[in-house]
Amino acid sequence: MTSMAMQLTAEEQDILDGKMGATLQRAMRSVALYGNVFDAERLVPLTGAPHFVMSFGASMIGPYFEMIDQLIAAGLTANEPFTVDPRPMDHANVPTNPLERLVFRFVFGKQQEYEAQLRRLGLKDGNGFTCACYLPEVGNTPRKGDVLAWSESSAVAFANSVLGARTNRNSAGIDILCAVLGKAPLFGLLTDRGRRATWRVEVDTRELPNAQVLGSAIGMRTVEDVPYIVGLDRWLKPGLEALTVDYLKDLGAAAASNGAVGLFHVAGVTPEAREQGKSLLSPDYRTYQIDEAELERVVAGYPLLWKNPAAEPDVCFIGCPHLSLRQIDFWVDALAVALRRAGRTAPRVPTFLCAAPDVLARFQQESGAPQRLRESGARLASLCPLMFLNNPLCARKRVITNSNKLRTYTAARFLLDDDLVETLVGEKKAVEAHYANV
Ligand code: F3S
Repeated sequence: MTSMAMQLTAEEQDILDGKMGATLQRAMRSVALYGNVFDAERLVPLTGAPHFVMSFGASMIGPYFEMIDQLIAAGLTANEPFTVDPRPMDHANVPTNPLERLVFRFVFGKQQEYEAQLRRLGLKDGNGFTCACYLPEVGNTPRKGDVLAWSESSAVAFANSVLGARTNRNSAGIDILCAVLGKAPLFGLLTDRGRRATWRVEVDTRELPNAQVLGSAIGMRTVEDVPYIVGLDRWLKPGLEALTVDYLKDLGAAAASNGAVGLFHVAGVTPEAREQGKSLLSPDYRTYQIDEAELERVVAGYPLLWKNPAAEPDVCFIGCPHLSLRQIDFWVDALAVALRRAGRTAPRVPTFLCAAPDVLARFQQESGAPQRLRESGARLASLCPLMFLNNPLCARKRVITNSNKLRTYTAARFLLDDDLVETLVGEKKAVEAHYANV
């Protein structure tokens, strides 16, 4: 009999002892060892659908694909139909040159094979590739109190904070093994104790700050701790009101990537903060005060990674994390107005609005959508810009973005929304002046 420090039920012990087959035994051993590392008390049943972080068939990670082959051969599937992060490319909408296509074929040589594996494991459908799986058009929306084993950092932050579900920031592979077992180790953000805040973040600005910058500031200061943010209820309404969802989606993605925040509470807005108020704060909490000067300091500290800071950008990506329907509407209209004002018919560089396939389909059904999109000069895409840029050829592109996650993991240049629009429609001279001033 194999023993684990973590307390197992008789059924779990049988699985660990191989009575349900060697593959399930290996899955249980991996998940139990993972739980032991974090002093998990026991395993708890998953109550929501999975979302996996690994969306790309990278040829060099053979053991991962072998593991999934073994799960499939043993007849195992995920506990519920699941979604996955966005694909690394979208050839129909984001054009690549022949050399880039060759690189993609080499780097992501197992893409088709991997997607076939995902279908056999229980992928929701062919549109299930997005990091914003919780949006209503996609439908993988956990309920408050659901226990999950998600891994995509932006989705983890949203599910925990905005929806009140419970998931740790798991890794690729562990997320699948938990889904196959239908269980996750009880530790960290799955526990009441792990969900208490150790930081009180006071937002003391005159206007609602840029979500990506506020999230970045909070992530860099609190790192992997749980912040309790006060001051945002002057602008954000509780529940799943559109502005609240969009704002906290972007704030969470920035906090999760510029730091490692997996859960944040917003006083008067997010579910646990509304129920428990400041009793969520640990007695020894620390305080971080954020005003306009602090946000300016944070933005001024972003490194400039382009060889020539005054060079022209090559491409613009908006939508990391993936945009909501309301955000697509906003960007399409904002770009169209700015282009008209500038007397232009298209942005100065190819501009991609990235969102879930289901959200893009919904936008296309809106009245006048094709015309509005044409007037914006932007294109819709469903890829993950980070994975698209994650190869030596595409990494050379000079990217501009309003995403702090994309800025953190690539050489993309971060611009605030207004500056991004100005750069996309402005005269070359104006843009150079802008860069010279940064
Ligand atoms: Fe989503 Fe890819 Fe950005 S997974 S959060 S679009 S890095």
